[in-house]
Amino acid sequence: MNDLPLGGKIAVITGAGRGIGKAIALRFAKEGADVALCARSRKELSEVNSIVGRLGRTCLTLSVDLADPTQVRSFCDQIIDKFGAVDLIVNNAGVYLERGTFENSDPELWWKTMEVNIRGPYLITYHLLAVMRRGGKIINLSSGKGYSAGANSNAYHVSKAALNMMTEGLANELWLRDIDVNTLVPGPTATATFDNLPPGQERPPEEILAQDRSSLPKGLPAWERVKHPDEVADFAFYLATRPVGGPTGQIYSLARRPL
Ligand SMILES: NC(=O)c1ccc[n+]([C@@H]2O[C@H](COP(=O)([O-])OP(=O)(O)OC[C@H]3O[C@@H](n4cnc5c(N)ncnc54)[C@H](OP(=O)(O)O)[C@@H]3O)[C@@H](O)[C@H]2O)c1
Repeated sequence: MNDLPLGGKIAVITGAGRGIGKAIALRFAKEGADVALCARSRKELSEVNSIVGRLGRTCLTLSVDLADPTQVRSFCDQIIDKFGAVDLIVNNAGVYLERGTFENSDPELWWKTMEVNIRGPYLITYHLLAVMRRGGKIINLSSGKGYSAGANSNAYHVSKAALNMMTEGLANELWLRDIDVNTLVPGPTATATFDNLPPGQERPPEEILAQDRSSLPKGLPAWERVKHPDEVADFAFYLATRPVGGPTGQIYSLARRPL
């Protein structure tokens, strides 16, 4: 136990190799939490693991494909073996595999999106719920696209809409255990998913943020702003530190437009 705000807390964060998940993992560790992190990329996880180690926190990292229930189970079993309890779950990992029309979609990719974006958070939460302590928080990373139907990217919209309903239903069940479940919508954030460049060409947030606004994805209103992942981590930290009896079943959006 340390005297920091998240001292003595165990936080599980999916998709923590880069982007928003990495920013949340490092912020939680800086604030005193021990962390269990997964993603597929071993290299990215190993870098995050080293930074957490230098902060003096315990870090479990495992290469896990959230689309594979056996791997998810094994990750959760290892968390329970190592830590025995969990205080914070951040279901952050998400994929945006197709951006075209429904008519031109690939059934395999449509379903893979469900496996990662909704069955993944379901399985992580399902396996860890029994060891979640009173005062626990579950934070699910959703998207504005889970609240309004677009004329493209159907799988992503459907998967995030399903995650929103999981959040609300779970909040209705878990208040009895003083566990809060909330949705965090980051809005446009400078990450690989946002940048949509081919694998291996990912750019650091600072480089994305420095580019001319006209080269950003179309469709953002003039008053929308692309954020650094650390800004999303700030808000995740705020949610993680709400006292017992704080908000649950809510949607927090960092976007600058109505959902
Ligand atoms: N950035 C935005 O503008 C934005 C806007 C709205 C919502 N969001 C949501 O915010 C969350 C984080 O997105 P991000 O922008 O930070 O994305 P990102 O930079 O691409 O990072 C995604 C993370 O998820 C992991 N991941 C992807 N597929 C996985 C799988 N099958 N199994 C395990 N881990 C997997 C990735 O690692 P590996 O590839 O190594 O597995 C990576 O660590 C997502 O849920 C996304 O939908 C983002």
